[in-house]
Amino acid sequence: MTRVSGDGDGADGDAETDSDRMPVLLVRGDREFLVEPGDEMGTDLGVLEVPEDVQSGDTVETHLDEEFQVRRLRGPDLFHHFERTGAPMVPRDIGLVIGETGIAGGDRVLDAGTGTGVLAAMMARAGAEVVTYERDADFADVARENMALGGVSDAVDVRTGDVTEQIEDLESSSFDVMTLDTGDAATMVAHAPDLLVDGGFVAVYSPFIESTREVVEAAHEVGLSNVTTRETIQREMQFDDRGSRPSTAPVGHTGYLTIGRNE
Ligand SMILES: C[S@@+](CC[C@H](N)C(=O)[O-])C[C@H]1O[C@@H](n2cnc3c(N)ncnc32)[C@H](O)[C@@H]1O
Repeated sequence: MTRVSGDGDGADGDAETDSDRMPVLLVRGDREFLVEPGDEMGTDLGVLEVPEDVQSGDTVETHLDEEFQVRRLRGPDLFHHFERTGAPMVPRDIGLVIGETGIAGGDRVLDAGTGTGVLAAMMARAGAEVVTYERDADFADVARENMALGGVSDAVDVRTGDVTEQIEDLESSSFDVMTLDTGDAATMVAHAPDLLVDGGFVAVYSPFIESTREVVEAAHEVGLSNVTTRETIQREMQFDDRGSRPSTAPVGHTGYLTIGRNE
């Protein structure tokens, strides 16, 4: 038995729930391992049998008495531990999308393309119901597994297909927000008024300025209001014995975020 202490924050009672079987992180210093209840994990610090009833907040130890802390996965952990396919948005840009559009509980979001699914999962964790399209069938399968890992399978409907070919069908459902992270986002933006509720937002993320310009032109053509584009860039700060300054690592440009509103 490897659990040594625990006031875990998992579900109470005897009934097994999904959260009982959820993967957890075992953390020690700057090392962390993603494991499932019942796993056996071999490390240079010994062998650790993950208890079936492991819970966030527990401390577990290897057969050499080396301790690991147990944590549940939070949003940024999904970015690090989801299996990667399409380049995932970084947590800070996801924060911008959620902050600029106000995504919250009860919202219906149309997302494309799913890619790794980090954005979709974090919007679901913020309370939204997400319909997300991925045109690569293998990527869509991986995304479904990632949604299970993130505990949001019930809130994220991963559909295989090219979203631009579904516009007519989607027009019957009104979405509160549309999030686009595809090279052909302008095609969807051109239909935003038919896909969004009054006051709904479109958020388009693009690494390149050329496709951003197409998006902005499409947004103006269909009469979206408050159309703004911002480069998303942050400078990391370094603090060491010599002094404090911005990191000399390459500039932190990740992309352009365009927001528009249907009203
Ligand atoms: C940059 S990734 C999206 C990453 C995602 N936002 C995340 O946070 O993990 C773009 C994905 O969109 C998919 N894609 C591109 N155009 C598409 C379209 N028209 N319909 C559906 N998926 C599309 C690509 O296959 C790719 O997997």
